[in-house]
Amino acid sequence: MLKHTDFRPQWLVAVVAAIVLLAAMAFSLTGAFPGSVWWLGIGALAASLAMIGALSRMRNAAQDWIRELRSAKSELRSLTHEIEAAERRMQNLADGLDAPVFVCGKDGTIRWANESAKRFFNFEDLVGRTLLEVSLSVDLQQLGAKAAQEDALVRAEIQLSHPQERIVETKAYPAADDPELLFVVANDITELRRLERVRTDFVANASHELRTPMASIRSMAETILQDDELPEETRNRFLSRIIFEVDRLTALSEDLLVLSSAESQKTAVESLDFADVVRYVAQDFIIRAQEKGIEFELDAPETLLLYGDEGQLVQVVQNLMSNAVRYTQQGKICVTLSTEDGEAVLKVTDTGIGIASEHVPRIFERFYRVDRARSRETGGTGLGLSIVKHIVNAHGGTVEVESELNVGSTFTVRLPMQMGDR
Ligand SMILES: Nc1ncnc2c1ncn2[C@@H]1O[C@H](COP(=O)(O)OP(=O)(O)O)[C@@H](O)[C@H]1O
Ligand SMILES: [Mg+2]
Repeated sequence: MLKHTDFRPQWLVAVVAAIVLLAAMAFSLTGAFPGSVWWLGIGALAASLAMIGALSRMRNAAQDWIRELRSAKSELRSLTHEIEAAERRMQNLADGLDAPVFVCGKDGTIRWANESAKRFFNFEDLVGRTLLEVSLSVDLQQLGAKAAQEDALVRAEIQLSHPQERIVETKAYPAADDPELLFVVANDITELRRLERVRTDFVANASHELRTPMASIRSMAETILQDDELPEETRNRFLSRIIFEVDRLTALSEDLLVLSSAESQKTAVESLDFADVVRYVAQDFIIRAQEKGIEFELDAPETLLLYGDEGQLVQVVQNLMSNAVRYTQQGKICVTLSTEDGEAVLKVTDTGIGIASEHVPRIFERFYRVDRARSRETGGTGLGLSIVKHIVNAHGGTVEVESELNVGSTFTVRLPMQMGDR
């Protein structure tokens, strides 16, 4: 590279001036020219010296500019690095968000999107497409259009059907420094809305379950109170019915309590003998089965150690056995406990009424009963299997059912025997 110090124009001027001066002297000595040539030479020398001075100053100024340019260049370079690093950080930040984020033009064309957006809409190459193309949601497209038109933040809860059913809380707003750009952020609130629905349904169902027996208790008590002529037999029937309804209310409140404590308290993790738990609970149901004329068979190892919450596991076994006895009129109940691939496997099989296949996916829901009246009359609350499922899942296990209508059912609970990540 050519250095600016390699070329020194003032020396060139000095050499030219010296040559002019020497030439003038030579010419005057030879007498070819008059003395005025001397003056011309001196003038040339003075002009050359002035030019040397000017050129030297120019050279210094040029050197200053070069220095400044160099430092500006290095500042620019470090600024570019900083901008690139900031862009990378923004990208990392946006990619780390669970919510899909888009930067769009005012017409809804996507200019940039984070990784969540790609995953969420199952679309690898989003840039250049419109919000409508990607989401197949007219509502989302319209939300962007509204934000662009009003030049302000707009929000909406949008139901998406592509690539799957979801509810998103979406907001769209223009970029502060560029009115041509829009930010669109979508928050997935499907699970939140589902939980809210479960809670409201639960409260409504629980109130309904409480109201029905209380209404019948009240009307029967009123009749007994008001009607002095009531035959003894009717009076006694009413009183036993009142006791039955009160027992049902007690069972319901107990189940509600079990469910709420299982949901709110952390599952205890203590070493326990599950074989002992099963044998202990079975004692009660062997008697109840005998009373109904049903056989009860229990096959469990001497010990089966696992980590869990003893009180909660008692509830699991109790609920499964009580269903088996309740929904079986004749035949046999068979309970087996074994180990399989590091898991404790409890199977409760009955030869009862069975469950039609259309009901099977719903029987673990709270208050879901195939035959409401039958469950109620036999003292069921509709909460048993939802308690079982909740507790088993909290223990890192699974529960499933195989059933055939009028043939019987098998409920299988699998529980890890080691302490897993819970
Ligand atoms: N062993 C079984 N045989 C037939 N149906 C059953 C059995 N266990 C549960 N069910 C069905 O599942 C429903 C829900 O069970 P559960 O949650 O324990 O409530 P319930 O209090 O009614 O027993 C029952 O109402 C019944 O219809
Ligand atoms: Mg039950």
